[in-house]
Amino acid sequence: MRLLLFHHIVLSGYIFSEATKKFPDNFKFGVATSSYQIEGAWDKDGKSPSIWDHLTHTRPWHIEDGRNGDIACDSYYKYKEDVRMLKELGVDFYRFSIAWTRILPSGFINTINWDGVKYYNNLIDELLKNNIEPMVTLYHWDLPQTLQELGGWTNPIMEEYFAEYARLCFKLFGDKVKLWTTINEPRLVCLMGYGINVMAPAYNNTGIGDYLCGHTLLKAHARAYHIYDDEFRKDQKGKIFIVLEFQWLIPKTNSTADINVTETARHFMFGWFANPIYLGNYPKVMIDLVAERSAKQGFPKSRLPKFTEKEIDYIKGTTDFLGLNTYTSFLTNSEEFYDYKMVGFENDIGFQISHDPAWEATAQPQFKIVPWGTRQMLKWIKETYDSPEIFFTENGMADNGTSLDDQLRIKFYREQLKAVLDSMHKDDVKVSGYTAWSLMDNFEWVSGYNLKFGLYHVDFTSPNRTRTPKSSVAYMRKLFKTHCPIEECE
Ligand SMILES: *[C@@H]1O[C@H](CO)[C@@H](O)[C@H](O)[C@H]1NC(C)=O
Ligand SMILES: *[C@@H]1O[C@H](CO)[C@@H](O)[C@H](O)[C@H]1NC(C)=O
Ligand SMILES: *[C@@H]1O[C@H](CO)[C@@H](O)[C@H](O)[C@H]1NC(C)=O
Ligand SMILES: *[C@@H]1O[C@H](CO)[C@@H](O)[C@H](O)[C@H]1NC(C)=O
Ligand SMILES: *[C@@H]1O[C@H](CO)[C@@H](O)[C@H](O)[C@H]1NC(C)=O
Repeated sequence: MRLLLFHHIVLSGYIFSEATKKFPDNFKFGVATSSYQIEGAWDKDGKSPSIWDHLTHTRPWHIEDGRNGDIACDSYYKYKEDVRMLKELGVDFYRFSIAWTRILPSGFINTINWDGVKYYNNLIDELLKNNIEPMVTLYHWDLPQTLQELGGWTNPIMEEYFAEYARLCFKLFGDKVKLWTTINEPRLVCLMGYGINVMAPAYNNTGIGDYLCGHTLLKAHARAYHIYDDEFRKDQKGKIFIVLEFQWLIPKTNSTADINVTETARHFMFGWFANPIYLGNYPKVMIDLVAERSAKQGFPKSRLPKFTEKEIDYIKGTTDFLGLNTYTSFLTNSEEFYDYKMVGFENDIGFQISHDPAWEATAQPQFKIVPWGTRQMLKWIKETYDSPEIFFTENGMADNGTSLDDQLRIKFYREQLKAVLDSMHKDDVKVSGYTAWSLMDNFEWVSGYNLKFGLYHVDFTSPNRTRTPKSSVAYMRKLFKTHCPIEECE
């Protein structure tokens, strides 16, 4: 059966030398989820509403299918089943997130909800019992609604509240958790949540709210890093890092304008968060362009907030490695006819994105399969940030749920992993781990339950939320065991 399964996967022309077909022995493999997307139990045992509970309950029209994460995969009650699946897959680690509102229902440090703490202790203990290392995300988008009512991430005070929450997590779980990630995908938190009203909290304040949000998130991340470094690292001996997403940008034509705007856009889309952490301060092109546009628009100073010298130093160097999420690549071209007077993030760049119709499609129309883009991206990151250690914290593709035989997903992972191997061996990029998104189908934010990223199918019509392996589970199990992404490495 298995041979047959691999037989009809047609592969493109990567040429592998014998020595470079396999991932090194110490390379780590795992899968990921996040609290709001799987846990359910949104108001059980003392949990309070997050901004995602609030958005889905008050404005369900924001979600394609009008549904929510009230029950989701019911993992609050079914975590042992989840761990059984992880065991079956043979992962080295499991990346999941803590729901801030489950352990601090007021949002603040004043009241700890011990039932919530118990849930995460149970999950962590179950993982460790099965030799699976927990990798814990502190913030995967579910801000306490109480804090949103103070302005959420646009309010600089959030740095304090996040710091207290982070310190509590290190205290509560740090004896058992050795891999921490601070903020998941800050660019999307800010652009989709505060810039355009797509993701929670769904504010519409592009070119202003997004930059304020990014400024606070960077300071909050750095604060959590320093707290870990100063107060916990010596005893707990773990690692802590940020998770940035990057969908690679490729010039649509070879015109000077397209090549130039593509590089500019890379700095806005990735450098916005990577530069302060790796190089110190925002990218120069971002500082210059936002200042120039702001002046023309009649603002007394740049809409992009300014870091003090002290803050620049404080943020620089605050990640043990680069957590990297990626799904696809886009073509980028310069937008000749846009209105500079219009305040907005996209106008600050002056670009448009699209994709090549020739690229293979997934169930998510904008997300094509572009493994060679991943390789270009890794090379760019290496060259721009002085060869950081990279840990893939998410990579995956969506199906539409019509078949358990997800051959396209197997092909996707195989091609992505071959591109990663090429990057490691031919471009000398340092990659130490890889995480597939996702363990199972779950609540995919504004797409509701329409997009299925899981290795396991979940039956959302059954009260049991029955999990069933898709074909990709067999592929992944073999990969995790042999470190070989193709049929045969020997
Ligand atoms: C967002 O704000 C802009 C500028 O004020 C406005 O033109 C646009 O219609 C708003 N969009 C939504 C969905 O509210
Ligand atoms: C741009 O130039 C590169 C390098 O010569 C080439 O590989 C690529 O296909 C060209 N892109 C387009 C859109 O013509
Ligand atoms: C690229 O764009 C930046 C920002 O608009 C500009 O300062 C620079 O001169 C451009 N470079 C080229 C080669 O066109
Ligand atoms: C679901 O995806 C499969 C495989 O890509 C495709 O053949 C099928 O038409 C899709 N079904 C729907 C309802 O979109
Ligand atoms: C749910 O699980 C219970 C216990 O295993 C079983 O008896 C029941 O038939 C299941 N229901 C469905 C709809 O799958």
